[in-house]
Amino acid sequence: MVYSSIENPGLLKVLSFLKSHNTEYLSGQDLSDVLKISRVAVWKHIKKIKELGYSIESKQKLGYKLTSNTDLPLPWEITQGLKTKLIGKQMFYFDKVDSTQNQAIKMAENTQNNGTVVIAKKQTSGKGRMNRKWVSPEGGIWLSVIFHPKFNISMVTLFPIASATALCHAIENTSKIKPEVKWPNDVTINGKKVAGILVDATLESNKIESIVLGVGINYNVDTNEIKKKIDSTGNFYGIESLKNFQKDLSLVNFIQEFLIQLEEMFNLLNEGNIKKIIKDWTKRSSTLGKNVELKTHQGIIKGKAVKIDNDGALVIFNKKNFRVLAGDIFHLTN
Ligand code: BTN
Repeated sequence: MVYSSIENPGLLKVLSFLKSHNTEYLSGQDLSDVLKISRVAVWKHIKKIKELGYSIESKQKLGYKLTSNTDLPLPWEITQGLKTKLIGKQMFYFDKVDSTQNQAIKMAENTQNNGTVVIAKKQTSGKGRMNRKWVSPEGGIWLSVIFHPKFNISMVTLFPIASATALCHAIENTSKIKPEVKWPNDVTINGKKVAGILVDATLESNKIESIVLGVGINYNVDTNEIKKKIDSTGNFYGIESLKNFQKDLSLVNFIQEFLIQLEEMFNLLNEGNIKKIIKDWTKRSSTLGKNVELKTHQGIIKGKAVKIDNDGALVIFNKKNFRVLAGDIFHLTN
């Protein structure tokens, strides 16, 4: 089932009325009269609102009262008061979907969907980097963002680096957590993965048609359950869940902050202000300065991680400099 502010106007009418009168009971008849919808429609919306995780107390003869908000990342909760110009202005929420990335890729063909966010409670075929599966149970933040950027094709490989940095900013601005980035685009806490980033770009005669950014954040997940399900693909180095570090982290605030930071990064890329992105990433990097082993399509490279180039390539020194744009990295003890 998919929800958005556009697709659920009736439900939203009832919900916002309940929210603005949450100190009193409202009868089905009152709701029906004020909102000019049938009593059956009122009842159906109330049922759905409850299913979406809001608590509504119903008392015979008195009616309904909203007693608590939902824990789900519902589009109207996130878009309300969201201080971005583009990202998240349109948002779709799935209670269950194969992959938000697949959905967003389909929607990306339409340029009107620039900045649209697709988010899901759980994914049945979540996709990770290097064609791996991404275990996506309830409790995580699984989202994809559609972009139709103006910037040059050479920026595509920097895009995931910029997005990982935006995510770090969001974590830092909403909690006391000090996240790090692990090349190419993992976000970690205490050396364990808390989020991963995937970028699917559609290119047309040397121009970017669209970029779909997929972000998987272990927000409030059972790390042991996920660990059990992850195939031993060889690149597992431990996972973490954000809420284990900051119990009072608000889901809505956190997602809003991430979208704001993402938009800032996107603007920097559009302005060609690469230096700031590289500097911000470098400051948080757990990879640079370490001896590493990199598995690439061309083979294994060992050496010392020196820096990232303007296109996000990792520079490794072993008698000479090697530039690597994609691969799996293993931090070796120094
Ligand atoms: C990685 O391998 O580190 C990247 C993982 C990206 C997972 C996210 S979850 C939302 C979006 N939909 C998907 O199917 N994958 C990405």
